[in-house]
Amino acid sequence: MKQKQNRLIVNNLLLVSGIIMTISGLVQQVGFHMDNHGDQLQADQLVWGLEHTEWSVIHKVTIVIFSVLMICHFLTHWKWYKGVISKNLIRKNRQVFILSVLFALVAITGLIPWFIDLSGGTGSLRMILIEIHDKLALFLAIFLILHLVKRIKFLKFWVVQHSDNQ
Ligand code: HEM
Ligand code: HEM
Repeated sequence: MKQKQNRLIVNNLLLVSGIIMTISGLVQQVGFHMDNHGDQLQADQLVWGLEHTEWSVIHKVTIVIFSVLMICHFLTHWKWYKGVISKNLIRKNRQVFILSVLFALVAITGLIPWFIDLSGGTGSLRMILIEIHDKLALFLAIFLILHLVKRIKFLKFWVVQHSDNQ
């Protein structure tokens, strides 16, 4: 029972942090990257009252939370992955596998530039990775929505159970 509850809490926190992560990423891409016609980002430009650096901080804070939760989510389903791979059922579960690969690629292409930045580097590798990151992230957002639509009843269950208890 406790395990089930923990799993529901992780899933619901994933949902909340996933939404903030996606919105803060999309705002940076649509509001700041697409708006400046190839020029440098404008430091004083605002989207919904916040500057680019503020959106960037929101994105970074939420991706740290999301990544920790994703490790819990992944460990919970470790046996599921092993079962599906050993029974050769990858085709049947194509969508979750594409989501898993996309998540790994988006995480790698987001985190490496961040580490380059933290270690004082700039350079073209960082920019190339961020360019790949924001394109792949669009596919990730689509697959996250598909993943959630199929499993919405698990998330609703938590809300219903809690409102029943009150
Ligand atoms: C917003 C983020 C996410 C939320 C809210 C979420 C939620 C859920 C829920 C509610 C389930 C079904 C209940 C359960 O088994 O725990 C589930 C299953 C699963 N999730 Fe996620 N998930 C998210 C992201 C991801 C990502 C990025 C991956 C892959 C890297 C992933 C992989 C899986 C797997 C393998 C399963 C079990 C198999 C299945 O149900 O088909 N999830 N997820
Ligand atoms: C669908 C979800 C996501 C979208 C739309 C998205 C979009 C973006 C965009 C557009 C940027 C560039 C910001 C800029 O400098 O102007 C960015 C940066 C970043 N993203 Fe994401 N992202 C998403 C998910 C993720 C995930 C899952 C991770 C890691 C687990 C991540 C990690 C990062 C990091 C660390 C940066 C900063 C890179 C740097 O400034 O050096 N993002 N993201």
